[in-house]
Amino acid sequence: MRVVERFNPSSVRVLRSPAVGVRDATPEDAARIGDVHYRARAEAYPAFLPPARINTRTLAERQAQWLEFARDPGYGRDRFLVVLEAPREGIVGFAAGGPQRHGDPAFPGEVWSIYLLGPSRGQGHGRLLMSEAARRLAGARYTGLIVWTQPENARARAFYERLGGVYVRTRPSGEFQSVGYGWSDIRTLL
Ligand SMILES: CC(C)(COP(=O)(O)OP(=O)(O)OC[C@H]1O[C@@H](n2cnc3c(N)ncnc32)[C@H](O)[C@@H]1OP(=O)(O)O)[C@@H](O)C(=O)NCCC(=O)NCCS
Repeated sequence: MRVVERFNPSSVRVLRSPAVGVRDATPEDAARIGDVHYRARAEAYPAFLPPARINTRTLAERQAQWLEFARDPGYGRDRFLVVLEAPREGIVGFAAGGPQRHGDPAFPGEVWSIYLLGPSRGQGHGRLLMSEAARRLAGARYTGLIVWTQPENARARAFYERLGGVYVRTRPSGEFQSVGYGWSDIRTLL
């Protein structure tokens, strides 16, 4: 799919909760995003994954991953990386996405990552991040989106279902599996 519209990298959007804001990430945020990614997995995944699968990359590798992403020329066009910031704690969550990657053209956009630190969960912040992700993808002319998670991640699955996501399919992911949830009309998430 050809993407013609650029995201506005300077956009700052304060969403429903007055205490938090969502904005585009910068390369300076990469270390903290990597930290949130690493810690969020360490907090949430022991409930359903064996230790070897909780953090498959080191903290330094996560930070390098997000620095590379934020510096990539494609970032800001058909891809996005947004952070959720709280007034005192700073960045407590993030979401990233772009074109779908696993052969599901009915859902041309994809949320690749969405993570919140433990104390920030269950307060509507995940909904805010999904809404912002949908807004970015809709702005790049994507009509639908898909998100993948582990079959064992019951919390994430319930979250996606609550937001109107429809089970699409289960696919192999390395030696494990991923389940996909789709929104054929991205506007329902805005
Ligand atoms: C999954 C995650 C992003 C959800 O974010 P969150 O802030 O906890 O979710 P919210 O508070 O925004 O919930 C949004 C809605 O989903 C519902 N919901 C969330 N978790 C739920 C659960 N376990 N069971 C049922 N409903 C749930 C909420 O009740 C809420 O509905 P409402 O707005 O109608 O009241 C967050 O829990 C997280 O970061 N988890 C760890 C990392 C992870 O698993 N990421 C996904 C990787 S694919």
